[in-house]
Amino acid sequence: MATQVPCGVRIAGCGSAVPEKRLTNADLAAMMDTSDEWIRQRTGIRERRVLDPDRGESQLWLATEGLRTALDDAGMAGSDLDLVIHASVTSEMTCPSNACRIAAALDAQPAGAFDLVAACCGFVYAMNVADSLIRSGRYRSVGVVGCDAMSTAVDPTDRSVAILFGDAAGAAILVRDDDPNRGCIHQTMNADGRTWPSLFIPRASSDLPAGREDSGARMGTLRMDGREVYKFAVGKFREVIEEALSTTGLAVDDISQFICHQSNIRIIESAMDKIGLPAEKVYVNIDRYGNSSAGSVGLCLDQLWKAGKISAGETIILVAFGGGLTWSSGVWNV
Ligand code: ACO
Repeated sequence: MATQVPCGVRIAGCGSAVPEKRLTNADLAAMMDTSDEWIRQRTGIRERRVLDPDRGESQLWLATEGLRTALDDAGMAGSDLDLVIHASVTSEMTCPSNACRIAAALDAQPAGAFDLVAACCGFVYAMNVADSLIRSGRYRSVGVVGCDAMSTAVDPTDRSVAILFGDAAGAAILVRDDDPNRGCIHQTMNADGRTWPSLFIPRASSDLPAGREDSGARMGTLRMDGREVYKFAVGKFREVIEEALSTTGLAVDDISQFICHQSNIRIIESAMDKIGLPAEKVYVNIDRYGNSSAGSVGLCLDQLWKAGKISAGETIILVAFGGGLTWSSGVWNV
């Protein structure tokens, strides 16, 4: 039997895509009882991008464009991929997976393809899974794309959710590397399914939690207990980052970027205050894109990557929390 040679993982390229159409706080204030001031103070969001169905834009299109730009950045073609992992809660269909259709659009067959559902943790989970599969020796190159079109999954008149979300895709191409110390050196993927009623998208009234009064919003749209998710997120962000640092023996100074899910500026700032993270190490784009669920961390990664803020030899941490409820981290030697 051949002996398995340990290997590492290199980020060969990053990509992202956002729709052109902007939805500002003023646009929302014209549609519902809210204000630019309330949204900025409570969330840090000024505007978000949303699909324009009149232009034929869809979640599938957005995810495909995200992964296409990552392939371009890596100087690779779809046919160079062994596997495509697509993380989303807003795929058009459950069968086939959008991963299969993205792979087809990028001519990646016969690469394996599957969708992964971990809500806002989707990109971080998918990066962790891809790293592990490459280290197993079975795969050499994996395309990872996190993408959500939350504009298709929120009731546009429900101010408790419509103000928070935007549409985006973030992607990375991961390839086998000879250095076992390169790639994801520590990862966590956790969930507490008992808390699922805090955030869910029912397809039928039978999906509603027992005894829970429904808001009356149409099926297929997000129900969220914002205060519960907020409390959970504030605690988990700190816990996940501190656990990643203590397990790896790294200090804040050793990390070049903490790339956090963009859910609410107050949640991010709370982690920064409690752990003592300097502002220049915590990228924030929620003001321009809102919370794009599985798109968020990959979008931040790509914007930092393209800005030259992440270089070979540096260590970064990806962190997210989301529906499930789920939470996840990955410490990457780039
Ligand atoms: N505009 C104006 N007023 C509003 C709005 C709005 N859009 N929404 C709520 N309010 C009102 C409420 O009715 C309430 O009024 P009251 O005091 O008279 O009762 C008041 O503002 C405060 O409401 P809260 O819900 O307590 O507001 P909070 O400060 O908690 O902010 C928010 C709400 C922004 C949703 C916050 O709870 C939050 O960010 N939660 C986390 C959500 C999150 O991160 N989700 C991510 C996971 S998503 C995923 O995995 C797909």
